[in-house]
Formats: sequence, structure tokens, C-alpha cells
Amino acid sequence: MFLIVAVASLLVKIIPSSVGEFQRPFKFDSPLRDGGLHPHGTSTFDQTPQVAIGRGTIIVGSVLHEAGWPRAVEAFRGIPYALPPVGDRRFRPLVPISSQGVINATRFGPRCPGKQLVQLPGSGGAESEDCLTLNVFRPEIADADSETVKWPVAVYIHGGAFNRGTAKVDGRIPVAAMHDTASMVAWSERPFVAVSFNYRIGALGFLPSNLSREEGILNLGLKDQVVVMEWVQENIHNFGGDPSQVTLFGLSAGAHSIGHHVMNLRDESPLFHRVIIESGAATSRGVYPYDAARHQVQFAEFLTEAGCADLPSAAVFPCLRARPEKDITDAQTAVFEKYNPSLRWAFQPVIDGDIISKRPIDAWASGAWNMVPIMTGFSTNEGTYYVPASMAQPDEFTDFFRVLIPRLSTADLRVIKELYPDPSTRPDSPYVDSRDLAAIGVGPQFKRVEAAYAHYAYVCPVRQTATLAAPNQKPPVYLYHWALNQTVKGGANHADHILYQTMDAAVLEYSEAQRDVAWTMHAYWTSFITTGDPNSIRGRAGDRPEWARYNTEKPRVMVFGEDNDERGGGDGLGVAAKMEEDEWSRQECKFWWTKTELSEMG
Ligand SMILES: *[C@@H]1O[C@H](CO)[C@@H](O)[C@H](O)[C@H]1NC(C)=O
Ligand SMILES: *[C@@H]1O[C@H](CO)[C@@H](O)[C@H](O)[C@H]1NC(C)=O
Ligand SMILES: *[C@@H]1O[C@H](CO)[C@@H](O)[C@H](O)[C@H]1NC(C)=O
Repeated sequence: MFLIVAVASLLVKIIPSSVGEFQRPFKFDSPLRDGGLHPHGTSTFDQTPQVAIGRGTIIVGSVLHEAGWPRAVEAFRGIPYALPPVGDRRFRPLVPISSQGVINATRFGPRCPGKQLVQLPGSGGAESEDCLTLNVFRPEIADADSETVKWPVAVYIHGGAFNRGTAKVDGRIPVAAMHDTASMVAWSERPFVAVSFNYRIGALGFLPSNLSREEGILNLGLKDQVVVMEWVQENIHNFGGDPSQVTLFGLSAGAHSIGHHVMNLRDESPLFHRVIIESGAATSRGVYPYDAARHQVQFAEFLTEAGCADLPSAAVFPCLRARPEKDITDAQTAVFEKYNPSLRWAFQPVIDGDIISKRPIDAWASGAWNMVPIMTGFSTNEGTYYVPASMAQPDEFTDFFRVLIPRLSTADLRVIKELYPDPSTRPDSPYVDSRDLAAIGVGPQFKRVEAAYAHYAYVCPVRQTATLAAPNQKPPVYLYHWALNQTVKGGANHADHILYQTMDAAVLEYSEAQRDVAWTMHAYWTSFITTGDPNSIRGRAGDRPEWARYNTEKPRVMVFGEDNDERGGGDGLGVAAKMEEDEWSRQECKFWWTKTELSEMG
């Protein structure tokens, strides 16, 4: 979902001439630079970086140097981390690879199958079931040092509703859609090694049902993520990374994933030591038991679409494994699309008694989770991409929640109506929309349903993580709120902050105020990644405010870009970052927190 919508919003930005949002032309060429061509290359650096990871495997990378980057980055892209999950290995846990010989790791591997909304120029469009590759980025390193450095490590888990998205970045446009991890590394004051990767999505990664449980294949996509974390533990030292300082970070579905990993206590030594959970949480949106009615129905529909219905149980997975890839991906797209408008999404993580051992809300109550430093946060307008834009009638607002969360009682629905006053009857409602609705293509109930869904699905679960973790664990928790208004319709939208975090040229060059937000955010993030504290490395944004750890007695939040609406057509420059009392939408969250369990029961 996220990829689609980010791309869609980007197209919206390109097409109208409005404000000349990007001051330099898009480049559609691949950022790949062959070793011999990169402008930064000097004789002291190896021009084709190579890393041996044991068992005879040598990984040959390349050096990237974008104009404007302060330093070059060595990239090792498209490294397979398991045997291809195809044919008889489809719908099964991963099988490790033993020896791989020399790997030409100069290109991203294809993304995992999932319906993307538009094929973008330069995006290559390649998708394949054989998609389980990871990428390693590190600052260019002198040969002599490569054996001795021990840099902190950050592992990025991409978003996309568990049905879209990729770690792949090609040229500028998908940079906006996904995460330019290499750019983030290039700009960091302190060096770190970053890893990004693809994991199985859609039905191929998340196909809950009774039968899938018997087959032992629930939450395969989450388990792929664990395999990557294990790969990092085993191999990252060869790249100069320190396996005892691993930060997981990710957005949206990537953030929900991290929430589940935080809750997943294991007997083995920890696979990560810090987390950044952006617009997501273990309790976000809805996490149902594997045999929840909605998922059983979706499973049956998937089997029908894939041509494997009406078979004895023992024949179902053999049938699915024998189908051509296209039949499977068409089937997963059809079922996902059917439930997309109501947001009762198919192919999601579920409570499996294993990697998600219990209802996430019960996991918090148990007092036992991986207690590591947590940075987490939300955006003001998280709902923009997801809710039905044309919503016009007050009844549609209530119906939306009745369908989304069938366990809400009539009394609950009444409370929701009061919490989000109807703009059609209440002139004092904050959801009276004075924008030109036709111009931005929304109905008069849009603002109201956007806010309510944003709170239910993202804002309140995120704040729940901060509220439940901070008083109950020793390591610190830091909360942020992204408030920079980037478009008239979307405001401070889901995922908008990614281009700031990665120091995208389009942001840096837009204006001084935008650049300051990017510098500040990137400094907090990379300081947290490299030290566990967002404040300790001062760097480029040396005068940024101290980010106080979350304290539920007197909750405070770091707000980014408040009152800045220059990109949305206003003239406010606002403040890059400032600590404020964490009161925005608190009343609403107090209600939603009492309803969390309704989205975690079958
Ligand atoms: C590695 O792959 C790239 C891209 O396909 C190609 O241009 C290059 O020649 C390959 N290098 C080697 C050593 O095979
Ligand atoms: C799934 O399994 C549960 C528990 O064994 C059972 O109660 C339920 O009826 C099953 N659902 C379907 C659709 O087979
Ligand atoms: C974003 O800013 C513009 C310009 O001030 C304003 O018209 C619009 O209502 C804002 N959007 C949101 C969602 O706040």
C-alpha cells in the first residue's frame, strides 16, 4: 500500500506545475557507478570493494557517489540470503545457502511479487519470487581499515502493508517511494553499516489459515526477517559491522514487524539492540489469530483464485507449489484488492503462538519483551492514503468503523461519533473542511475519517508503545511527531519524513527551512543508530534541542516541522524540531487504547 500511495502522491507532485517542488530535474538513470568511474575514486581506495564471508563466498560490490554526498558509499547489493523460495520451496520456511562462490553484488535484486500501482520509468519493474536478497552499505573504507573497524549496524525493514514494497531503489522516483539507505549512510557524521532487504510479502509471505498452521508456514515473511538478522549476526563483521550494536528501523509494515520482534523473546542471544519504529507498532491496525474468520475467508478465496479449491487438505499446498508464479501472484493481488477499500487487508501477520506468541496487547501486559532503547513516532495525517477519499455522508463514517472493527458495540460507535464531531451538523467540529474539496478530490467527511483512522491505526498504537514501554523498562524511549505539512490534501502524511531522514537532494535543495528539518532528523536518527542516544552526536545539526526520554508522568514529544506549510502552498516556516507536551490527540487515544483487543480477536 505504502509504495503505491507514495508513488501516487509523487506523481501528483510532478504533474502540477505548482511550486516547483523539486528544484533539480529527476534523474532516471541508475545510481550505480562502476568502480572505475566514480568521481571520488583515488588510488588509496580499492575501486571494486570485495568482502569474503567465509565458506568460499566472495562478495564484489561497487562504489556509489551521488553529487552532493559528503562521502562515497560502498554498496553490496543483491546478495542472496537463502535458497530461492520457489517450486517445492514455495510456502515453506527458508533453507540456508551454503557456498556461493563469487557474487556480483552490483545491482539490487528484483522485488518480491506484490501489486505496485504504477510502473515507473527507471524502476525496472522486475519482480520475481526469487527475491530474497539483501544489500549492505558502508562508508567508503580504506583497505587497511576493513579488518579492524567495528561500526554500528542498522537494518532497515521496508513498509508496504505486507503486500508491496521493496528494498530496491533505482533512480530518483522510487527513492521517494522507498528508502535510500545509501544516502543516509553517506551523510552520517559517524560511520555505520546499513542493511536493507526484501522479505516475502502477500500470500507468499503471509497466508493465515488453519491449514497453514498445520503446514507450519504462518508468518513466513516475519521469519524471513529473522533469517536476515541471523545473517547479520554471522556475517556483518566481515563488512566492518559490529554485531553487538544492531538497530532495527523501519516504516509502516516494517515498523509493525519491529514491534513484533520486540515482543518475540527468544532463548538465543539477542539479534538486535535498539529499535526505531516509525508509524507502526505491535498493536497497530489489527493482528488477528491465524484462524480468524476474515483470514479463513480470504484463504478460501485465494485458493479459488489460484485454482486449488475443493481439494483434500493434503493436496492443497502441493497444488499451490505446482502452480506457475503468475497464478499465485494474480490470486494474491485479486484477494488483496478486494479488501483494500475497507482496509480489512488480507495477508497479514497473525497470532501464531510462535513468533507472535500472544495478542500483542497481552504481550505488553505480560511485562516481558526485549527491552532495548526505542525511538518511535507518528505523523499528523497518517490516514490520508488509506481512507475512502470521497466520503460524503455521516453514516458512511460510522459504517466504515463498523465494517473495519466488527466487534465495536453500538455504544462504542456512539462514542466515536462524539469524539470526531460530525462536520455536517456541528459547525464547531475541527473536521469542518474549509479547503477546496473538489480541487483536492475529497468529500466533506474525509478530514474526519482520516483523523479517526490515523488515530486508530497509527497514532495511538505508536503512543501506546511509548506509554507501555517507558515506565516498565530501563532503556530509554523517545517519541516523535512528524507535523510538517507537505501537501494541501495530505498535510503531514504517512511516510513523508523518509526523504528527510535519508537526506534526499530534493528536500535539501528546496529551502533552508526544509534542509534544517532534514539535517535535524537525520542527526537524531544516526546519533541513535551509532550510540543509542539521539542527542550525543551533534554533527550537522549541532544546535538541535535535547530530545528528552519519554516519561509518562510528564509526557513530552519531539515535534518536527510544526507550522511549516511552505511545501503545502503556505508561507509558514515553523520550527525544525521542538520538545512539546504530548497532548495532541491524547483524548482520542485514551478511547482507542480501550479497544485494542477488539482488533486482536478472531
Ligand atoms: C556484474 O554485473 C554488472 C551488472 O550486470 C555487470 O555490468 C558487470 O560486468 C558484472 N561484473 C562482473 C565481474 O561480472
Ligand atoms: C480452524 O480451527 C479451529 C480450531 O481447531 C476450529 O475451531 C475452526 O472451526 C477451524 N476453522 C475452519 C474454517 O476450519
Ligand atoms: C497544508 O497547508 C496548506 C497551506 O497552508 C493548507 O491549505 C492545508 O489545509 C494544509 N493541509 C492540512 C492537511 O493540514
